[in-house]
Amino acid sequence: MNPILELEKTIYLMNQLEDMPLPQVAMAGRSNVGKSSLVNALAGRKSLAKISSTPGKTRSLNFYRVVPDNFYLVDLPGYGYARCSKTERDKWARLIEAYLTKNEWLKAVAVLLDSRLPPQKIDMELVSYLQALRIPMIPIMTKSDKVKQKDCAQRQRQWKNIIGDNTKILVSSSKTGSGLNKIWATIRDASGL
Ligand code: GTP
Ligand code: MG
Repeated sequence: MNPILELEKTIYLMNQLEDMPLPQVAMAGRSNVGKSSLVNALAGRKSLAKISSTPGKTRSLNFYRVVPDNFYLVDLPGYGYARCSKTERDKWARLIEAYLTKNEWLKAVAVLLDSRLPPQKIDMELVSYLQALRIPMIPIMTKSDKVKQKDCAQRQRQWKNIIGDNTKILVSSSKTGSGLNKIWATIRDASGL
């Protein structure tokens, strides 16, 4: 059965960040990798989170309360979106950094990686950043419906070598629903509830 997600808070600015005293699992990754689509797919709803084929759709931190478990799934704006101004990118980077570093409620970050692409520098930087902060990571390769299974398995091994320490690399398709049950179980587990 799909979890029930309710959008509870939307944050655009650093000074809107406040203590949200429930465990949190955040969705991070490059623009267009499929973070918002995964939120929708997990909830079994088409348009809970807004999605777009144009990168840079999500521009705020969106806190979805998971009912009845009572933790937050947090959809983050994507990074690496070249078409917006540097000032705008820096603003988001600082907002996300503040969210990740000053948040005792953050239990894990799901790092979404595009199954179609070889490991990208910007994704590896996020991985190292989270490792340095000792924030548990849930790596998820997205859009698996777009690649051959053999290539997907190879990419999974590549990521496993990069991330190391026995972290499982999950694979998902928000289109076909493949991998969603396992992802949901892992996220729920990570919330600590
Ligand atoms: P930002 O909000 O810009 O950071 O992007 P996002 O990571 O939230 O991506 P979003 O969910 O908006 O999806 C981007 C595009 O990828 C949309 O056109 C989606 O339909 C498509 N997409 C997402 N997940 C999948 C998937 O599993 N399979 C396929 N085929 N397309 C997907
Ligand atoms: Mg989004």
